[in-house]
Amino acid sequence: MATLFDPIRVGDIDLANRIVMAPLTRNRSPGAVPNTLNVTYYEQRATAGLLITEATAITHQGQGYADVPGLYSQEALAGWKKVTDAVHAAGGKIVVQMWHVGRISHVDLQPNGGKPVAPSAIAAKAKTYLVNPDGSGHFAETSEPRALELDELPGIVEDYRRAARAAIDAGFDGVEIHAANGYLLDQFLRSSANTRTDSYGGSIENRARLLLEVVDAVTKEIGGGRTGIRLSPVTPANDVFDSEPQPLFDYVAKAIGPYKLAYIHVIEGATGGPRDHKQGDESFDYDALRLAYTSNGGTGAWMVNNAYDRDMGEKAVESGEADLVAYGKPFIANPDLVRRFRENAPLNPQDQATFYGGGAKGYTDYPTLDQAS
Ligand code: PHB
Repeated sequence: MATLFDPIRVGDIDLANRIVMAPLTRNRSPGAVPNTLNVTYYEQRATAGLLITEATAITHQGQGYADVPGLYSQEALAGWKKVTDAVHAAGGKIVVQMWHVGRISHVDLQPNGGKPVAPSAIAAKAKTYLVNPDGSGHFAETSEPRALELDELPGIVEDYRRAARAAIDAGFDGVEIHAANGYLLDQFLRSSANTRTDSYGGSIENRARLLLEVVDAVTKEIGGGRTGIRLSPVTPANDVFDSEPQPLFDYVAKAIGPYKLAYIHVIEGATGGPRDHKQGDESFDYDALRLAYTSNGGTGAWMVNNAYDRDMGEKAVESGEADLVAYGKPFIANPDLVRRFRENAPLNPQDQATFYGGGAKGYTDYPTLDQAS
């Protein structure tokens, strides 16, 4: 029987344990460039079996929030190289979450102040975060997007491919394709955000096409064994809805089976909210999702996420329901979360006020057990 603390090989990546740090937006990389504070933050958490970086924009067009990092400028890639070197020196493994926000953006964040892009010109009822000239921040409604032209879609796929190559060159052990939480790839999947009438809208097959093209291009570039994917079948995050999430995501899971991905990362329920959240009338069947995946050759590790505590995570791994468990907020406040779980030690309280933006406070100053005693 496996435990949370046992090593596991995930695609081409050997992990020391099954405790994963989930991607967490922290808005502490001004200019979209990772800095020395970011290096310290990830290095402090390197005892996780796997670190997944905060969502990281693959292009300037893919940016949707102030001070989130990118994967496209030479400066950003040099900054990330310092992060990956530090994590590896500390014995850890790290993948980067590749992000295109689609319509969850603002003209102030876009190249030349242009409209954000989306499957369809439908604004999301969602907010983004902007920084004022004096350095203070404020939330703002996302801007109305424009629909991507059919002939722009190969360029989007190419942006993912190029970002994946750049990530490997910057020392990452792999990438996570962010297809969750109402961002671009999830916008294409969901009927509420995608009303296209071409081969990328309408049927489930058409709505899944862009995501599958991205999976194909990225795995051809860096290998399936270095590629993970994140899905959130029923989340309402960023104003996405689909009345039939089960057939939609079962189709996606089945279609990615043959790519021999490193892992499938599934947010259960509403992101950061209730685990039993529904879209449509039926409860989502995550066992059926996994079966759809394995029935078509899927061999990737099954990673679960959303409000797991130590005991839930341990049960999920021991029962075989999951191979990996991703923890978000507990990792913000506990750099040595793995040790605390192993010793069943108490956790530091989380300071919500410092989750987004700011400096070292609430970022790199949470004490380890040794520092606290
Ligand atoms: C956020 O910045 O609020 C955010 C980013 C990525 C996610 C979810 C939320 O997947």
